[in-house]
Amino acid sequence: MRTQVGIVGAGPAGLMLSHLLHRAGIDSVIVENRSRAYCEARIRAGLIEQWAADMLVETGVGARMQRESMVHDGIHLNFGGGLHHIDFHKLVGKRVTIYGQQEVVKDLIARRLEDGTKILFEVEGTTLHDIGTAAPKIRFRHDGRADEIECDVIGGCDGFHGVSRPSIPSGVLTTYEREYPFGWLGILAQAQPVADELIYSYHRNGFSLYSMRSPSLVRYYLQCAPDEDPERWSDQQVWDELELRLSGVRVLPRGPVVEKIVAPMRSFVVEPMQHGRLFLAGDSAHIVPPTGAKGMNLAFADVRVLSKAIAAFYRSGATGLLDQYSQTCLRRVWKAQRFSWWMTRLFHLFPEETPFDRKRQLAELDYVASSAVAATSLAENYVGLPVE
Ligand code: DHB
Repeated sequence: MRTQVGIVGAGPAGLMLSHLLHRAGIDSVIVENRSRAYCEARIRAGLIEQWAADMLVETGVGARMQRESMVHDGIHLNFGGGLHHIDFHKLVGKRVTIYGQQEVVKDLIARRLEDGTKILFEVEGTTLHDIGTAAPKIRFRHDGRADEIECDVIGGCDGFHGVSRPSIPSGVLTTYEREYPFGWLGILAQAQPVADELIYSYHRNGFSLYSMRSPSLVRYYLQCAPDEDPERWSDQQVWDELELRLSGVRVLPRGPVVEKIVAPMRSFVVEPMQHGRLFLAGDSAHIVPPTGAKGMNLAFADVRVLSKAIAAFYRSGATGLLDQYSQTCLRRVWKAQRFSWWMTRLFHLFPEETPFDRKRQLAELDYVASSAVAATSLAENYVGLPVE
């Protein structure tokens, strides 16, 4: 089959790219190796920067989010035995929206299908061809038959483990990477909220985070070993450890745990984010550690730039914006990398740490909580830096 833009991956990056292109009158086809049910159930963070929430609303896919999400003015920091509120709205005039990534994915899939965009789920053996030419192709098997998409541009939106990035010839990409000597044990539980807004907590046993998905569904995370087996933790042990680390807050309302996972922590960027007619967007090009929940927001920022560059290409035939895609995205990507790394370093215990580092971390938390200048920097980054 033939389309204008072939998209690999039906996560937030691929779906939003297709959506923005459709609004610009450009056709796309999406291939995805998982099932629709799998994509819609894949649980990730649930925090949307203000510009991204605005974009969902302005482009007509934000109605359910507006009804069901929670809008937060700020966050709480918990350290030294007490809560300290950082009020983003007061500091920078912006807010964040709490709405699960998988809910955004459900809304985007529904809209793509309504608009008549083809999403081929459960494809197998996807490979990319002729990406260095003006006629790239995506080959795969679907419903037991070999198939091919001929297109002008490929959006490589298939995540860290996808086929897009490895399709770029060796020697083209430079990788920048950092691994962290810990992971996050995350639970989703049917329990009452413990606070009105998220709590990022510093404790001698390690970091913990209180978040939420709805007034009756809470999300908690605990810093754990990088290779932790989530099944080694009974529900009671998780609650006890959360209560200990969030100490100074209050007794945690407990309830049935409906999911328990371990999330890896990695910082990763490839440069450039493009080769020929293949453009990487979202996790296929960069990974942030989860602290601050930048993953989906970064993916949206990438495809916003990419969709405008593709639209300019079809309008005038000029490739100027496409040529600059990587450079444009990477300036913001690196700032989000810096922020995610900073949040991670601020709250987590690192094995090589000395008592000096603990004192330094507590001083930094105290500085952020007591200085309007420091708090404003946190707020500006947390609600989302400007987008192109
Ligand atoms: C969530 C995850 C994060 O990493 C974070 O910083 C905030 C919230 C979440 O899953 O809700």
